[in-house]
Amino acid sequence: MTNRSWRTRYGFYFLAVGSAFGLGNLWRFPYVVGENGGGAFVLLYIFLALTLGLPMLIAEMMLGRLTRQSVVMATRKVSLTSGKDFKFLSALPVILSLVVLSYYSVISGWVLHFIMQFVLSLFGSTQIGSSSMVLLLKNGGLQFGLASVHLLITLIVVVKGVQNGLEKWIGWTMPFFAFLVVFLIWKSTSLSTTDDVLRFLFYPDFSKLTLFSLNHAVGHVLFTLSVGFGTMVTFGSYVREDQHVPTAGLRVSLFDSIVSLGSLFIIFPLVFKASNRTITDPALMFDVLPQFFIEMKGGLLFGLAFFVCLYLAALNASMGLLETVVSNILDIFNKKINRNQAGWATGALALLLTLLPSLSGSFFREARLGEKGLIELIDSILINGFLPLVALGLSYIFFKGVSLKDKERLFVDKERFVSYSMFPQWIFALRWFAPSIIILGWLLHLFGLLKIIWQND
Ligand code: PFF
Repeated sequence: MTNRSWRTRYGFYFLAVGSAFGLGNLWRFPYVVGENGGGAFVLLYIFLALTLGLPMLIAEMMLGRLTRQSVVMATRKVSLTSGKDFKFLSALPVILSLVVLSYYSVISGWVLHFIMQFVLSLFGSTQIGSSSMVLLLKNGGLQFGLASVHLLITLIVVVKGVQNGLEKWIGWTMPFFAFLVVFLIWKSTSLSTTDDVLRFLFYPDFSKLTLFSLNHAVGHVLFTLSVGFGTMVTFGSYVREDQHVPTAGLRVSLFDSIVSLGSLFIIFPLVFKASNRTITDPALMFDVLPQFFIEMKGGLLFGLAFFVCLYLAALNASMGLLETVVSNILDIFNKKINRNQAGWATGALALLLTLLPSLSGSFFREARLGEKGLIELIDSILINGFLPLVALGLSYIFFKGVSLKDKERLFVDKERFVSYSMFPQWIFALRWFAPSIIILGWLLHLFGLLKIIWQND
């Protein structure tokens, strides 16, 4: 486990919020909402963020807080103290982090691309247009190059151990980003499409939910809160003795959900204005936002500032993913290899894996399942398929491996009524609610797939 020199109250928040807040909020959430028909799905998402995501987030942070280790060693520790063997489950979050890092790097590369486009447009040497994203998606080499640059930046920061300073610095730029987001919400909602957007987002038409929606909501809640990757175990291990983990978890979840909802108010008025956009497309945000900036007065500068901030958020989240893999490798090999070696080996593997999603729109163009291209399939397999199961495994390790007494000691703070009265609900959520919902979501999804295959026959 790496030591952080700034284990202050806010230091922990920087890390946890920094990991939760990322491309998931601004890029992924709008198109998943589009894919699942709007209002009813938004309601389902908010409900599950509080009843499933939050309890699981608290459990992960608490596993770190209790053991003061990253996920693999934390699991070994609770295996020893509880006499149960969970080792087989503990490597899964690390593998998932590695694979998700590679695919996250491709999307971060898209952000880098638009930063370059805005810079070039400012100097008048190119013109961003509605075709910018289409051209990028067709250019696999460029996507791979950009993803490699992103991976390299992340790697250098993590291997050099300078992420403490950088995370802090990124943390300070985020209030500016928040200002930009609020400004964009204001601008976007003053478009004439707002009424339609509000109806789409907040009128819950449950008939629009599909057999896949529950699973999609679970996957996105876990992804956006960074639950199931082991990252929050590592960050939980940095929590100070006097910090109350459930309160920290609640703040992180609330902040993250508010930003996600805010992003809907930015993207959907623009989507409705440009009525020809497919709202279920992963390129959605990159399709509509740059165009919006171009049409705005002084928009090139705003656009540049926005994409730079978005990139910093993506970098921060990527550092969390890479750090999880590196710190666990170091723990497993018991310092027989150094940080440099662990970092470069992880980076090389991630780079290799990046080939698949970055060539999705070019070399692997024919690899499709129905409407979905390779990048959407990878996203779906990772976030809707594996993530809920891996997160469930982690929650199981915590639930079975940590005694009720320890759970109660860390959860209940006599000074905080909420924590006192919520303890039984939290236990119920971990023991019954989360597993049932995750398994139900999975089964419905499977059933939905079988139905499609059956109908196509
Ligand atoms: N929560 C991040 C997002 O919403 O973009 C994604 C993520 C970052 C997941 C870091 C896991 C993680 F360790």
